[in-house]
Amino acid sequence: MISLDPIISRLPRLQQGEVWLAGAGPGDPAHLTLLTLSGLRQADAVVHDALIDPRVLALAHEGAVLIPAGKRGGKPSAMQADITAQLIELARAGRRVLRLKGGDPFMFGRGGEEALTLAAHGVMFRIVPGLTSGLASMAAALIPLTLRGVNQAVVLVTGHGADRADGMDWAALARLDQPIVLYMAMTNLAAITAALLAGGLAPDTPAAAIASATLPTQQVMVATLASLVETVAQSGIVAPAIVVIGRVVASRAQLLALLPALAATDAATDASTGG
Ligand SMILES: C[S@@+](CC[C@H](N)C(=O)[O-])C[C@H]1O[C@@H](n2cnc3c(N)ncnc32)[C@H](O)[C@@H]1O
Repeated sequence: MISLDPIISRLPRLQQGEVWLAGAGPGDPAHLTLLTLSGLRQADAVVHDALIDPRVLALAHEGAVLIPAGKRGGKPSAMQADITAQLIELARAGRRVLRLKGGDPFMFGRGGEEALTLAAHGVMFRIVPGLTSGLASMAAALIPLTLRGVNQAVVLVTGHGADRADGMDWAALARLDQPIVLYMAMTNLAAITAALLAGGLAPDTPAAAIASATLPTQQVMVATLASLVETVAQSGIVAPAIVVIGRVVASRAQLLALLPALAATDAATDASTGG
């Protein structure tokens, strides 16, 4: 067996005064990339999102200071400014800084905004990709996101702000009839599904919600577009969750039927199989 050591030893080094904006993947440490893991081992300051699993943080260098940067007090913009100010301050103090974000740092996680601010302040940074929860949830729930003859595209969209009049054109997404993967959708799920139905997406379009994907507490709930809100409410499924609406979801049942052993394991984690 080939050793990983030569690969790891050739990875870039986290320099003093540098910030790595790194993705921790969807949750379970198994989905960390080697580069994020290497950053964790080298960083002397780890500024991390609230959703980062404690088992991931435990991989940090033992002398590293762990700084939580979760949501506080309903003031997202002020807090975001605080976080970037702290990153700049740590970098200017010569620290090796890992800014650890859930999933991928450039997917609905303000990584882009943080990178722009660091660049504007002349702070060296590197973007370390991570496995985004929208894609990891599908694999973890046995939902193939693309299938020949079923879809040619995938829509990744945030449900945040979906209740605003100037928000997403849900009718346009309904017309596409391609799988819609929703991040941060639990709060506005009723408004989103109503807008998709009003836009002409068939009520019997298969749908699923996957909570805490890849973690031991993972839950998968299957419904239809029409029954999604009620089934989610009844299941007691809680955030963080990814919602997917599209015909590809139907393949999950086929896969489970073909893999009886897997189906037996999965039944224990299913909140519901309604719809
Ligand atoms: C602020 S966004 C950050 C997304 C992240 N940058 C990514 O690439 O996955 C947070 C949302 O990601 C989704 N999410 C994150 N981790 C998840 C998980 N383990 N299972 C399901 N959804 C997850 C949820 O929709 C949650 O509301």
